[in-house]
Amino acid sequence: MKRYITTPIYYVNDVPHIGHAYTTIIADFLKRFYALRGDETFFLTGTDEHGQKIEQSASARGKTPMQYATEVSGKFRELWNEFGIDYDHFIRTTDDYHIKAVQLAFEKMRERGDIYKGEYEGQYCVSCESFFTPTQLKEGKFCPDCGKSTSGVKEESYFFALSKYQDKLLEWYESNPILPSYRQNEVINFVKNGLNDLSITRTTFEWGIEIPNQKEGERKHIIYVWLDALLNYVSALGYGGDEKNMSFWQGSIHLVGKDILRFHAIYWPAFLLSLGLPLPQKIYAHGWWLNEGQKMSKSIGNVINPKEVSDEFGNDIFRFFLLREVPFGQDGDFSLNALVDRINSELSNDLGNLLNRLIGMSEKYFSLSLNSSKAKEFFPTEANELENLIAQALPLVENAQFHRYLEEVWKIFSLSNTMIARYEPWSLIKNGESEKTEALLVFLCNALFKGTLLFAPIMPTTAQKIADSLGIEIAPSSFEKMIIQNHYQERFEITKITPLFPRVEKKEKEEKVEEKKAEVKVEEKNPLIKIDDFFLSDLRVGEVLECKNVEGSEKLLLFQVDLGEEKPRQIISGIAQYYNPQDLVGTQVCVVANLKPAKLMGLVSEGMILSVKDENGLKLIIPQEKRKNGSKIG
Ligand code: MSP
Repeated sequence: MKRYITTPIYYVNDVPHIGHAYTTIIADFLKRFYALRGDETFFLTGTDEHGQKIEQSASARGKTPMQYATEVSGKFRELWNEFGIDYDHFIRTTDDYHIKAVQLAFEKMRERGDIYKGEYEGQYCVSCESFFTPTQLKEGKFCPDCGKSTSGVKEESYFFALSKYQDKLLEWYESNPILPSYRQNEVINFVKNGLNDLSITRTTFEWGIEIPNQKEGERKHIIYVWLDALLNYVSALGYGGDEKNMSFWQGSIHLVGKDILRFHAIYWPAFLLSLGLPLPQKIYAHGWWLNEGQKMSKSIGNVINPKEVSDEFGNDIFRFFLLREVPFGQDGDFSLNALVDRINSELSNDLGNLLNRLIGMSEKYFSLSLNSSKAKEFFPTEANELENLIAQALPLVENAQFHRYLEEVWKIFSLSNTMIARYEPWSLIKNGESEKTEALLVFLCNALFKGTLLFAPIMPTTAQKIADSLGIEIAPSSFEKMIIQNHYQERFEITKITPLFPRVEKKEKEEKVEEKKAEVKVEEKNPLIKIDDFFLSDLRVGEVLECKNVEGSEKLLLFQVDLGEEKPRQIISGIAQYYNPQDLVGTQVCVVANLKPAKLMGLVSEGMILSVKDENGLKLIIPQEKRKNGSKIG
């Protein structure tokens, strides 16, 4: 069977963050899962490089759009390589073959009578690259999707006859292509409310693909960035060119965030219908990762860098956590506490310990060499249970319930650990039941073998370590034999390895991450902001009333600062290496006074003290002369 797995192509106006990593990691999981199951797979990711937003971002940085796109696209590719993402092709919408395919598709739609010329008048959100009618806007002005201010657009435009496809789309949804089903229902309701034709060209900026066969004397029309971008899913397979991989199209699975479902579940299939191409097999829409309940954004500065988390905890753990923690489709909070809990309970206790005990007992009782044909015979109930667990787990991948899939797979390890507790191999050996003991250990090796095959697509490195220890192979042939045919292997030659997941001390990890947060990292030159954006921050002068070290931390100081309010503010600052706390009492400092309170080492911090740091160290920013506490800095 052919499986074609795609991620959205990422805008190059942002460096990769956890949301991008999430989609890409799920896609990578699916690719590896299907490949292990013996399917033929093709995994596509890439970057979306045209449009007004990229043009503006590049110009704010003094670069050409192409220079800028090449730079950021490279960062995405670099990160995916570091994460071991096993993509087959990385597309850039500035690639020649893609541009050709988009122009060809435009021409085909026009020939089909689906494109006509008119004038567009309405609102446009540059951030979402999306059109809205005035009634769709929030408070008459703001984008209903991202909340940013929209701008009025009135320009000559070509339109795509989207309304024509309303019934065909509704018919298609009956085959349940969109998961989770509550997201599909949202789409159906939207379409039932009626579709407007879609403006698919713009004339007021340059950076994009020109329409083909432009009429002489006509204003230059640039193809709407979403039409351009969506076509990547077929141009990457050779559409409009060598058609080399088009056979994969029949097995397409698109992974998208809920915010871009409308484009994929309405516009995209309508374009495909117009082009006479088959519709996507499946569209899986995931929710958003939030940071402490808040949407992540560069301007708030609460964006979680996937590389930092993976460097700190390891790539496999990061992948496991992303898929296990949140029910696919729903929003989830990225919490360090939850991550550490999962490492300690599911990875270290359930899985890591099982392997350790298996190695220990095999060595002690059978010199690391196991051989028994009676595993199922001695433990028929458990063999049955194991078979049922696998049968329940497998369909969950097709249903896009990845968290439930892992939950079921982990029951295999719980079952194994329970067997050790119930049958007490140490007592069996003592009672001279060596044959049963060996059968038990062989049963456990089989259970671990099967479980490992099932989670290998999520934690490939860990799976390989277990494979090395049990002397097994993670390969489609093993999957077929052990999972599909429910085979039991009789012999295992075991190799000792170091524990897989050492337990993590919460406090130590928390402090490391908090320290990282305290060093505000500016990863790239800040883009220009408007004066209104600057005044969103409330900066004030205040006097330090108390200052002491935070217990258990080498970096943090705890301040009580008088900002002229009813009671002093408690503020935590990571400057203990630079100041003696007593020396600061009585000093006036500059404070960001309207920051959302945050918890550091269990203490609430209600603001941020401004400082400056260079190679000579860190200094607080202090008013030249004393001013009234609470005075506004402007
Ligand atoms: N370029 C378009 C996609 C075109 S596909 C033909 C685009 N790019 S994006 O870079 O803005 O977003 C890509 C994906 O990242 C979306 O699926 C979006 O849902 C996802 N995420 C962005 N922030 C996210 C979180 N905080 N959490 C989870 N995913 C989110 O849209």
